[in-house]
Amino acid sequence: MHDWRRTHHCGELRASHTGNLVRLNGWVNAYRGYGQQVFLDLRDRHGITQVVVEANDSNLELYKLADSVGREWCLAVEGKVRARLPGKENTDLATGAIEVEATEIVVLNQCPTPPFEVTEFPGEEIAGEDLRLEKRYLDLRRPSLQKTLVLRHTLNRVIREYLSERGFLELETPLLGRSTPEGARDYLVPSRVHPGSWYALPQSPQLYKQLLMIAGYDRYFQIARCLRDEDLRADRQPEFTQLDLEMSFVDQDDVLGMIEGLSKEIFKVCRGVDISLPIRRMGYDEAMLRYGSDKPDTRFGLEIEDLCDWAKTVDFRVFKEVIASGGVVRAIHVSQGASKFSNTDLKPGGKLSEVAVKAGAKGLAWLKYEDNKFLGGIEKFFSAEAQDALKARFGFQNGDLLLMVADKEDTAAQVLGTVRLHLANVLGLLAGKEDTFEILWIVDFPSFMHDPEAGRHIANHHPFTAPRVEDIAHLDTDPSKVRARAYDLVINGYEVGGGSIRIHDPVIQSKVFSVLGLSPEQAQEKFGFLLDALKHGAPPHGGIALGLDRWAMIIAGTSNIRDVIAFPKNQRARDMMTGAPAPVEPKQLKDLGL
Ligand code: AMO
Repeated sequence: MHDWRRTHHCGELRASHTGNLVRLNGWVNAYRGYGQQVFLDLRDRHGITQVVVEANDSNLELYKLADSVGREWCLAVEGKVRARLPGKENTDLATGAIEVEATEIVVLNQCPTPPFEVTEFPGEEIAGEDLRLEKRYLDLRRPSLQKTLVLRHTLNRVIREYLSERGFLELETPLLGRSTPEGARDYLVPSRVHPGSWYALPQSPQLYKQLLMIAGYDRYFQIARCLRDEDLRADRQPEFTQLDLEMSFVDQDDVLGMIEGLSKEIFKVCRGVDISLPIRRMGYDEAMLRYGSDKPDTRFGLEIEDLCDWAKTVDFRVFKEVIASGGVVRAIHVSQGASKFSNTDLKPGGKLSEVAVKAGAKGLAWLKYEDNKFLGGIEKFFSAEAQDALKARFGFQNGDLLLMVADKEDTAAQVLGTVRLHLANVLGLLAGKEDTFEILWIVDFPSFMHDPEAGRHIANHHPFTAPRVEDIAHLDTDPSKVRARAYDLVINGYEVGGGSIRIHDPVIQSKVFSVLGLSPEQAQEKFGFLLDALKHGAPPHGGIALGLDRWAMIIAGTSNIRDVIAFPKNQRARDMMTGAPAPVEPKQLKDLGL
């Protein structure tokens, strides 16, 4: 072959190309030999083309070569496009009307037998994840992963176009920065030039984007890599990507409006779905009360009910004590749930009870309603009137189940929020909801939470979030009453974004540092540059960051964040392919003074 470079890609040829001499480059997806004929499916990221070699006296060498290639070998094929025989067309393939009759094949590179299937067959189980991550370059040849990475490209393109058209500047901020004491654990990088001093990799570009606003850049965005040394979950990676964005001279509605328009565009282009605007807003208190979560999945019911008023009327010691000590009694009514859970599942140590206990409950109280009466054990503590009131409240039918938790308010919410999600899984309530997107803004967060371990307040979002104007006075008196000008974006139970209006007044910023337990000296030491910058004509500003990996998960319809990242870490934060993290040479450590 005088030149092995392709004239077409493997998804391109159609009946109209019949008779053309073409060259294709790609990988052997599948191989079939039938006596005097060899069929090779050649694959690249665009598609698959069938190549055929028919043995005859003049091409025995070619036939032998075609007969010897293996899966995932990299080939160049030259040949003539011909129509497939009538009845042999493959309507599942875009190129299924034709095949290429090879006249020459060049093996660009061989491949040992792959340790797992790259070819995907519907319904077939894929190989274990650690093995696939170890040979990720083969795994990434799978069409479904290729589709997802193309989706990520499209997502980035839509974002860049949308924001550029609206006057945003894409600006970069440093990777080597200063460790900030709030938030997750930092990844630290030792300085060789300044032994004993450390850079931190950014958990987000938060402070730099605020400084860009102070510097007058007005509308900024960045598709930014962020690094956090925290425990991993199905939707969390130690390095992930944010669309980070900041705007000057705006209020909450301006940021929300901008992101709503962008969300609509993303769903339209990347998923072909038209979402309706405005996106619903829900207060934090309501989300915690009804769903036990600040990122509620509202695709199904099973809402949490507050039973304090009713519980006060009954003679049950557990409820009485909890209510007397300021706690709450809350419940989930599971219509026709009685037969789904045996009494053993519900009793202490049982499957459902353990879900509650693991989430922090001391126990799970329950009642079944069968043969027109309550059963379970604790009904004996409830008078006939109390039972009637309960029955009326939920409209009990035979076969229903009530799950109750009595505890401190936060714990009860957390427990029932977890039980609610568990019930949805067990009862299959999400089946068929793959194309349902429930999008919500959660607003009116408390600014601070009390951390009993640290014995102080911690910021709910971050320390640079502005308090609501009417709550500023509470900073001095009762910080737990301060509500933040913060907002989270939630889709189908995933937190896919979070942001706030920022503090632009150095006096309020200093007050917030003090609420968080930083002395003026400590605040100056850690954040002197910010406090100083805020004194230099800082404009009112606010912004948000979207978690793009989670957006890609939702659009691609996967619950595994590693499916939407080219080279993810496994659940133990290890890169299975390169082996990172790995020991380094003693000399490297010595150079760093370690
Ligand atoms: P926050 O910490 O809420 O806000 O992060 C913004 C969004 O990033 C995503 N995210 C993650 N995705 C994958 N793996 C992780 N470990 C991970 N951590 C967070 C989530 C989250 O909503 N500086 C602020 C934003 C701002 O105030 O403008 C920030 O980083 O989808």
